[in-house]
Amino acid sequence: MRKITVVGAGNVGASVAQRLAEKELAHQVVLVDVVEGIPQGKGLDQWESAPIEGFDTRVSGTNDYADTAGSDLFVVTAGIARKPGMSRDDLVRTNVEIVKAVSLQIKQHAPDAIVIMVSNPLDVMCWVAKQVTGFSRERVVGMAGALDTARYRSFLAEALDVSVEDIQAMVLGGHGDTMVPLVSYTTVSGIPVTQLIDRKKLEEIVERTRNGGAEIVNYLKTGSAYYAPAAAAVQMAEAIARDKRRVLPCSAWLEGEYGLKGLYLGVPCKLGGRGVEQILAVELTSKEQVALHKSAEAVRQIMETVKL
Ligand code: NAI
Ligand code: 2OP
Repeated sequence: MRKITVVGAGNVGASVAQRLAEKELAHQVVLVDVVEGIPQGKGLDQWESAPIEGFDTRVSGTNDYADTAGSDLFVVTAGIARKPGMSRDDLVRTNVEIVKAVSLQIKQHAPDAIVIMVSNPLDVMCWVAKQVTGFSRERVVGMAGALDTARYRSFLAEALDVSVEDIQAMVLGGHGDTMVPLVSYTTVSGIPVTQLIDRKKLEEIVERTRNGGAEIVNYLKTGSAYYAPAAAAVQMAEAIARDKRRVLPCSAWLEGEYGLKGLYLGVPCKLGGRGVEQILAVELTSKEQVALHKSAEAVRQIMETVKL
């Protein structure tokens, strides 16, 4: 790819830019933020690490969207993050206005771009970006399932004392307390996880996954997670930049899939050079199907509070 812009040079955005550059996923990575000096300083600092890390991706920072013109991909992390005691949904009012403003800039300066949304509440922010940019559903996709799945896999690897690489799993649904870890599709190198771990421990891990974001907020106190979120956003960016057609859980606009339409929700997607190339329909147990619809309801409730 020629150019990737990361919107928001805060904790997640700066970490995303660094990982994008270290993986050389584009010739140029631009960090854009409303705060003067921060994107410029972080961009320059990262670029100065290039000779040591051995990457040629030119990282820079700006406050001017003209510098983002023609970007192939945007990773949007602009917004406020959660503080202790604050739910993701509390963020909605402030972040809707921020994401609206950012989306208008993307539409103006890079009308052919693909957008990976990260800002919370995630599924609702994806909808705001899709509505404001007018982009197709292939080109506006949300990062949440990749992070929630990474948390679930890391907890399982620890409990089973096996490599994280051998845990296959997917967490679907909205990015919130109603997310749906698919226990029926969780395997360890193909072996159903239920054969290797007792049900009580598995339930504890599922619950810890649902509260994974809050667990980090409670430690950090001044903000929310960013290392794993940045890794997850870059996993999606890599699938797009390298046209890998990876199957990853992403927040995608549903038009009847899973019996749902007119909202963004985490579902298995094929992610490639054109963005969301396919939404995969997988069979769910009746319990998982009910949980997915409950999660959709939680997303819809927030959508109803938003005026576009
Ligand atoms: P942060 O506060 O460190 O950074 C946010 C940055 O956005 C700040 O630098 C701020 O100046 C900037 N910003 C605000 N308005 C802007 C605008 N109009 N244009 C450009 N930049 C603007 O927050 P952090 O930790 O980086 O989190 C960012 C967002 O990502 C939050 O909404 C957070 O809840 C969300 N998040 C989502 C995750 C997910 O799984 N989807 C995981 C982690 C964070
Ligand atoms: C997380 O899950 C805050 O949504 C963010 O860590």
